[in-house]
Formats: sequence, C-alpha cells, structure tokens
Amino acid sequence: MERTFAIIKPDAFKAGNAGKILTRIYAEGFKILGLKKLCLSKKEAEGFYAVHRERPFFNDLTNFMSSGPCIVMVLEAEGAIRKWRELMGATNPNDAAQGTLRKEFGTSIDNNATHGSDAPETAAFEIGYFFSGIELLA
Ligand code: TYD
Repeated sequence: MERTFAIIKPDAFKAGNAGKILTRIYAEGFKILGLKKLCLSKKEAEGFYAVHRERPFFNDLTNFMSSGPCIVMVLEAEGAIRKWRELMGATNPNDAAQGTLRKEFGTSIDNNATHGSDAPETAAFEIGYFFSGIELLA
C-alpha cells in the first residue's frame, strides 16, 4: 500500500464541491487515513510550495492557496501517488481528460481544484508538513 497527499483547493471548497470530490475518492477505492479542513496562511502556503519559489506563478499560487479554507488529506491505495494524479487529470483543466476532477471542478490552470504529490519523496514531505504519525494510524 502507498500513501499520497492531496488537497481540495480553496476554489473547489468555496464552490461547494468538496463533498462530490470526497465521494469520488471513496468510489475510486482510496482509503482516507487523515483529513483536516484548514486555512493556510501565506507563509504556510509558501513553505508548502517552496520547490516552486523561483517560478513566475509562485506569488499568485501562494495567494490563491491562502485565500480560503481547503481540505488536506492523506490517501492510501495501491499505487496511490499515480492513481490520484490520474484521477485529478492534467494541471490545466483545459487539457484534462473527461471524467477527471480537474476537468469537472477546475476552471483554470491556477484554479485547478485539487493537488496531489508527484513522487514518493514529495509525498513524504507533504504528508509530514500537515500530519503527525499518530494522526495517521489505520
Ligand atoms: P505543478 O507542480 O507544475 O502542477 P501539479 O499541481 O499538476 O503537480 O504546479 C503546481 C501548481 O502551480 C499547479 O497545480 C497550479 C499552479 N500553476 C500555475 O498557476 N501556473 C502554471 O503555469 C503552472 C505550471 C502551475
């Protein structure tokens, strides 16, 4: 079993789509090991996305991620990292395949509804950023 880290971003939360996204997560066979609703501060968003700090979209991205409540989660499944990225679809909702979460709930590349770790090392960092080990006991 593998773990990945996922976020229902502020755009999807604000639009009232968190419930539908959680329903999809269960329907696709993920187990939710940890879940919290929180509002990221600008500093917390900057720390989370530190790998992107030199990118031109960093300021807009961290403003967006700290603009309202979101839901952070640890998901478990066989091949969870890849499975969750497939369910999310391409970064830009315009390029995302039909049936993916970003196609259905995203509205633009910067308001793309969900986040998912892209590799095991990233998943370990991102899970540890928000959850302690005892919060994730099965
Ligand atoms: P990235 O890690 O490339 O994508 P993904 O979320 O699919 O792993 O980028 C992180 C986030 O940054 C992305 O979800 C949305 C935002 N972003 C922009 O706002 N503009 C851009 O040009 C890119 C590439 C990303």
